[in-house]
Amino acid sequence: MAAMARPSPMMKKLCSSALLLLLLCCFLLTGALAEERFYEFVVKETPVKRLCMTQKIITVNDRFPGPTIEVYNGDTLAIKAVNLAQYNVTLHWHGLRQLRNGWADGPEFVTQCPIRPGHSYTYRFTIQEQEGTLWWHAHSSWLRATVHGALIIHPKRGLPYPFPKPHREFPVILAEWWRRDPIAVLRQSMITGAPPNVSDTFLINGQPGDFLPCSSQGDHLYSAPRLFG
Ligand SMILES: *[C@@H]1O[C@H](CO)[C@@H](O)[C@H](O)[C@H]1NC(C)=O
Ligand SMILES: *[C@@H]1O[C@H](CO)[C@@H](O)[C@H](O)[C@H]1NC(C)=O
Repeated sequence: MAAMARPSPMMKKLCSSALLLLLLCCFLLTGALAEERFYEFVVKETPVKRLCMTQKIITVNDRFPGPTIEVYNGDTLAIKAVNLAQYNVTLHWHGLRQLRNGWADGPEFVTQCPIRPGHSYTYRFTIQEQEGTLWWHAHSSWLRATVHGALIIHPKRGLPYPFPKPHREFPVILAEWWRRDPIAVLRQSMITGAPPNVSDTFLINGQPGDFLPCSSQGDHLYSAPRLFG
């Protein structure tokens, strides 16, 4: 068998430096593209007017629906939840795979102790190979009725969507509204053993719609863009 030409030591050295440089480039590139995003979510009581009645509900940062989180696949999220409400609370990132950060998942008494009133907790996790629109919500009692919002994960920076680019994008958030404090509705059902009272209306992006009274009487709260009209 003919002997193969052996690479000279010089050649070998050059090759390994080239490989090292390539690896370094890859590392720097991915490192430069992914970011850490910080949010502060203050959970507190806020008056809102719906169905002609002003009620105090628990919100995040006085917003209903809550703030939209927007990140890119590969980003790391740090969300500091500050609990100024009178209830224990936890937050859950619905549909998100928590790979090796189960403690950031949020279900109370499952992956964490609830955040007590006056305390805070920072949820920290990296989005790994996921994209699309998910949502976040409180994962304690019925706080999720008013403590929720959209979680939008764009493809990695510079990469396209796996479908033609839409003309316009905005979240559509569906929810239910009770004329009572949802926690009271749940509590009554626990006491009586009967199913909880059904909600008084449905909401789209926090609004009951023009067929219901006072739908156009806004409040000081931020709300997502109106869909129709
Ligand atoms: C509230 O949270 C604290 C600390 O996590 C926990 O010890 C307590 O049992 C919780 N209270 C309720 C009503 O869940
Ligand atoms: C549930 O509905 C019943 C019947 O309409 C009403 O009397 C009661 O006050 C409601 N409870 C709550 C907690 O909203």
